Amino acid sequence: MTHSHSVLVTGASTGIGLHLVRCLAARECRVYATARRADDLRRLRAIEGVSALAMDVRCPEEIERARGVIAAAGRGLHGLINNAGVGGIGPLATFGNDDLRDLFEVNVFGPHRVTNAMLELLRTTRGRIVNIGSQGGSIASRDYGPYAMTKHALEAYTASLREELAPHGIAVSIVQPGAIRSRIAENALPSTLARLQAAPRWCRSEAWQLATRLQSPPTPDPAAPESNTNRRVADPESVAVAVLDALESSSPRARYLVGSRWEGNRVIDTLLERLLDANDCPTLSYDRDELVARLDRHVAARSGGDGGQARPSG
Ligand SMILES: NC(=O)c1ccc[n+]([C@@H]2O[C@H](COP(=O)([O-])OP(=O)(O)OC[C@H]3O[C@@H](n4cnc5c(N)ncnc54)[C@H](OP(=O)(O)O)[C@@H]3O)[C@@H](O)[C@H]2O)c1
Repeated sequence: MTHSHSVLVTGASTGIGLHLVRCLAARECRVYATARRADDLRRLRAIEGVSALAMDVRCPEEIERARGVIAAAGRGLHGLINNAGVGGIGPLATFGNDDLRDLFEVNVFGPHRVTNAMLELLRTTRGRIVNIGSQGGSIASRDYGPYAMTKHALEAYTASLREELAPHGIAVSIVQPGAIRSRIAENALPSTLARLQAAPRWCRSEAWQLATRLQSPPTPDPAAPESNTNRRVADPESVAVAVLDALESSSPRARYLVGSRWEGNRVIDTLLERLLDANDCPTLSYDRDELVARLDRHVAARSGGDGGQARPSG
């Protein structure tokens, strides 16, 4: 990415989005950074090379206005980073349909709306799309169901879009961060606590325990090994490294897992369990040697340097 390139970053007021904007601006790209509040837009505008655009990803009119501004600049769009997102945790029984819909509006329909609006601009440059997913796109566990549902949906969205846009020269990737320093948890806290307070009687005690943990999270102990109760939190820079590769590499990967060794193990183990679940199907069950041979064939196809696109047949 250089000064002749333009990149749109959604949700740039804080956290990962703001860091990405700073990184891209430092590379002298023309950065279109979106935010919702006037003071955030003002701060973004003060960064050299940044055009700040008002955009709530739930609002088609604001997205269209942003598209118009980018189109009028006349250089197309080289990169779209669908970063805007919200957290939402708690037992599923505390989430009504409207609560779930609010999460999907931002985390799933948002990227879909923005991408569709920007596709013509991306086609003119054979640009790149990078969706900010999560390890919650591979792992689903108690209390993380609602957020994980949206990030699993974003995985499916990204995988389909990647195949559909490849013939048009547009590469699509998803970045899957673990725990990253940002405002996501505190932004979601008020609505999360309100839902947990109103939990149905039968799950009230679990809900209130979760509320207590969220209000006074344990202080991480850097000397102790990482675990569910002793999480590490990484800087947004680790996400930026992956996003820049997805924007700049000649063969951008389908997925970029970002996180600590402990987080990586958790994702790999979850996917292995899912593989073994699939293999338990009565009409199809490979024995161990066949499974390992198939894995070897996929590894060999990847080392052919196709960025993970090849799927060996048979
Ligand atoms: N932090 C993590 O541990 C982590 C891990 C995995 C994935 N992620 C993903 O990383 C992305 C960025 O999150 P973050 O951690 O940097 O959190 P963050 O600091 O809370 O930033 C989220 C950004 O999204 C924006 N946003 C929220 N709702 C929006 C809407 N309706 N329309 C437009 N923008 C909206 C926020 O704007 P406002 O300031 O106006 O609310 C903010 O700019 C998200 O997609 C998140 O799911 C984060």
